[in-house]
Amino acid sequence: MNTLLLPLKTTHLTLRPLQPADAEALYRINQSEGVLRYFPNPAPPALEKVQRFVAGQQAHWEKYGYGNWGILPDGEQEIVGWGGLQYLPELDDTEVGFLLDRPFWGKGYATEVAQASLRFGFEHFGLAHIIALVHPENIASQRVLEKCGMSYVTTLVLWGLELMRYRIEKVPR
Ligand SMILES: CC(C)(COP(=O)(O)OP(=O)(O)OC[C@H]1O[C@@H](n2cnc3c(N)ncnc32)[C@H](O)[C@@H]1OP(=O)(O)O)[C@@H](O)C(=O)NCCC(=O)NCCS
Repeated sequence: MNTLLLPLKTTHLTLRPLQPADAEALYRINQSEGVLRYFPNPAPPALEKVQRFVAGQQAHWEKYGYGNWGILPDGEQEIVGWGGLQYLPELDDTEVGFLLDRPFWGKGYATEVAQASLRFGFEHFGLAHIIALVHPENIASQRVLEKCGMSYVTTLVLWGLELMRYRIEKVPR
């Protein structure tokens, strides 16, 4: 059994690889005001597109061994967002990313997920560094990355957006 696919418990959250049953919850989360504001396409996608996204996430887990988790806070029955690691062929780099439904902002959850993602990537895979890409106006996300020890490196244009690239190196043990 691949134990890396088992749910991971953090202080307030259970993280488990995104699965097809999560598509409807994600579809609803994407309708929340402002949630997709800083993404390349801020229009909430149709359910079929969300289902394809989730299927793509499953395939990513199978191919790379890591990926995006669904985020389940203690006491919740349904995921309230996603976060984790994703390999970006465009940059030949692995990025950490996260998205939460609006009622769950401001509770430290994105920081908890991002810190767990960085630990997971550095402990179990041969990643020398991990990056993040963030819209220059997405201050909350930049703050999350800084709280995780990531540093701004450069600004690049990708997917038609100007994005700030953050980076963290694996600390040798
Ligand atoms: C960005 C996002 C993930 C942050 O999630 P979160 O769980 O609220 O983040 P945290 O609570 O861990 O930390 C947020 C930090 O940003 C700060 N912050 C939030 N809004 C801010 C603002 N407008 N200006 C300055 N700081 C801000 C908070 O005070 C907190 O910092 P602190 O702990 O030092 O007080 C959430 O807003 C979200 O899902 N947004 C939509 C999706 C998205 O943009 N994802 C990121 C793509 S790169």
